[in-house]
Amino acid sequence: MKLRLLLALSAFLLCDAKLAGLKQIIPSNELPPNPTQNTQALRLLQFDTKNAKTRRITDQYKVRQRREVFDSKSYESSLTWAHSERLDENGDAVLRWVNSDSSITFRLEARTRGYVGLGFNSGRNMRGADLVVAWVDDRNGNAQILDCHGLEFEYRAVADDVQNYELISGYQNDTHTTIEFRRLLDTCDRQDFVIGEDTTQILWALGPPGSDGQLPKHVQSGTRPLRLLQPLSKPDDASLMQWDVRLRDLKIPHVMATLFWCKIFKAPELSKKHHMVGYEPIIDSRPIKNGRPMLEKNSLSPVHHMVLYECAEDPDDYAWNEWSKGDGYYGPNKPSEWAICATPVAAWAMGSKGEFLPENVGIPIGKRGGASFYMLEVHYDNQALHEVLDSSGIRIHYTPRLRAHDAALLGAGIGVSALHVIPPKQRQYRTVGICGSECTKTMIPDDGITIVSVLLHAHGTAKKISLKHIRGNDELPRVSEENSYDVRYQQSRIVPGGRKFLKGDTLITECTYDSTGRDKPILGGYSATQEMCLSFVLYYPRTPLAGCYSMTPAKEFFETFGVREFYGVDMTQVENTFLSSSYVEYPNLPSDQGKESEEGGMQGDDQGVGFMKELVIKEPLEFGQKTFMAHLNEMPWSEVLLTEQIEKTLYRGMHMTFCKKNDDSWGAMFFLLRDNQSHVSQRKEVFDLIRSITMQSTTRLV
Ligand SMILES: *[C@@H]1O[C@H](CO)[C@@H](O)[C@H](O)[C@H]1NC(C)=O
Ligand SMILES: *[C@@H]1O[C@H](CO)[C@@H](O)[C@H](O)[C@H]1NC(C)=O
Repeated sequence: MKLRLLLALSAFLLCDAKLAGLKQIIPSNELPPNPTQNTQALRLLQFDTKNAKTRRITDQYKVRQRREVFDSKSYESSLTWAHSERLDENGDAVLRWVNSDSSITFRLEARTRGYVGLGFNSGRNMRGADLVVAWVDDRNGNAQILDCHGLEFEYRAVADDVQNYELISGYQNDTHTTIEFRRLLDTCDRQDFVIGEDTTQILWALGPPGSDGQLPKHVQSGTRPLRLLQPLSKPDDASLMQWDVRLRDLKIPHVMATLFWCKIFKAPELSKKHHMVGYEPIIDSRPIKNGRPMLEKNSLSPVHHMVLYECAEDPDDYAWNEWSKGDGYYGPNKPSEWAICATPVAAWAMGSKGEFLPENVGIPIGKRGGASFYMLEVHYDNQALHEVLDSSGIRIHYTPRLRAHDAALLGAGIGVSALHVIPPKQRQYRTVGICGSECTKTMIPDDGITIVSVLLHAHGTAKKISLKHIRGNDELPRVSEENSYDVRYQQSRIVPGGRKFLKGDTLITECTYDSTGRDKPILGGYSATQEMCLSFVLYYPRTPLAGCYSMTPAKEFFETFGVREFYGVDMTQVENTFLSSSYVEYPNLPSDQGKESEEGGMQGDDQGVGFMKELVIKEPLEFGQKTFMAHLNEMPWSEVLLTEQIEKTLYRGMHMTFCKKNDDSWGAMFFLLRDNQSHVSQRKEVFDLIRSITMQSTTRLV
């Protein structure tokens, strides 16, 4: 007990003096010589209470984080550090970190067996800085941390009233001290620095050996400006090579509001396995005015998103070589063989400056280890209907210096189809895409996979997107979430520490839309005026799983909107049409393909929208033999009860999930009911509601 008290006491004093570089310690029972320094005086008077508080905190840490020996290797692999920077030229102090939307985790490795100090400030000094000191006690190997701050008018540090830094672990070997700790980006504590997008001055200091319980005077210190929340930076690796995957002078006609262009590319010839470690967008769009492409590039570029897919191996190299020399195809017309280009390796969306993968993962590229051919899909959103000459694409960065793990991307969420409906006039309408346990049971290896980062993707009406993780009956913490989604800024999110995802676990992508500005239902589709709900999940080790989506089965879907039967086709045929078109392509595009849509311009590949415009309702009769689209447009969307019921029914009701392998074969398809107790009765309720409302309006009309 006595020892512990002593320890805590020295901890406080240590903090008090360490970063300040004071030569003496102020005895605790003496007021400082200058009585006008009120804060400080007060602090010293409050010494005892503070001391007790500090002790309590350090005790808590000890209980919570007690670990006898830290095996640096095993725990190095358990966290994925997004960033790593040397704070000094020699690399005596190396800072690694990774952040989520709300918190940031650091690892400081420093050549000292004394204390390590780190600080955050807007200026390059200690004044008012947020400081944190940590050390490993030489006597017992226990690590300790203390949250401090620099005084405004004096060059020294004192302990904060509230301790906002949480020690995760700390150990020392013969030469180094390594400490891991985390904090909130904004601790809501005046004595802490708010870590934001701006450049932060990182202050650092290393104590002399054996300084744990004694008077410290740092032996080394410095400052370094860093942006802590920046997206992953380009690694400082001279071996990086570039591969530009881009279209050449594609002329985008002004009548196409939505255009998908696909082209095959041949991977660079590499004599051994390489890792792709990042990519950047190449936006090269020249508006054509008076028949001539304008020199100003990028202005009003219609490039909305681009995905590079890896193609599964096909023995027919000849055809693929030929395709790679061609210009590519309008999405819906592309050769059916291209369906084996199913595994995304890079997904760029508007607003992103590109991505670099965390330092422990790389995506194998090229014949040896990766794939020989890749398909670039560029989505142009040309609602303004310009004529454009486009040579956009993606610059891939790859390296022969292999990373620790082979990673891959997995697409998850709601299958892109017209069966994904968002009613108009909704403030918070939720939809979900499920990657179910039946799929993950068969496709995920025994040891599971580790999720490294996630790109959440939807269009303009989406306000929130989250990726949920279910194991058995429990929901684990969200893998990733965005509560103020902005379609103009889409950058993938590192999952701090990585997330272990096991066989049989379920991934749910949930999207919340605000459609208050729209008068007509929004249907799922690729156009920017339509919606999506997707997550691209980067994980390792690679599996054959390329996609895992769900959608409402057609029959359930139409019944939810009150429709039992259509003219000319039975529900099974309708279902099959949607099934075969699924989320990929709509195979036999309905006759309106190429027609100008109401929004003006061709909306291109429509994922079943056209089909909905052709289906005429037979049963129930009171719906007046309208097309389903007309019915959908004329539903009484302002009836809150109705939209609530529809949301609930589709959210909790039947989902059909698809597991798609990288060679385009189906891994598993099955149906699952999220809440089978209420959904049948719920559907009936919706049906009765629609009927009664429709009847009312008909009666009113009469
Ligand atoms: C001590 O730890 C540092 C930092 O983790 C590491 O770089 C160094 O190799 C270690 N030294 C020994 C002898 O294990
Ligand atoms: C509900 O689902 C469970 C498990 O999926 C199943 O065992 C049960 O029979 C279902 N009940 C109904 C009424 O469909």
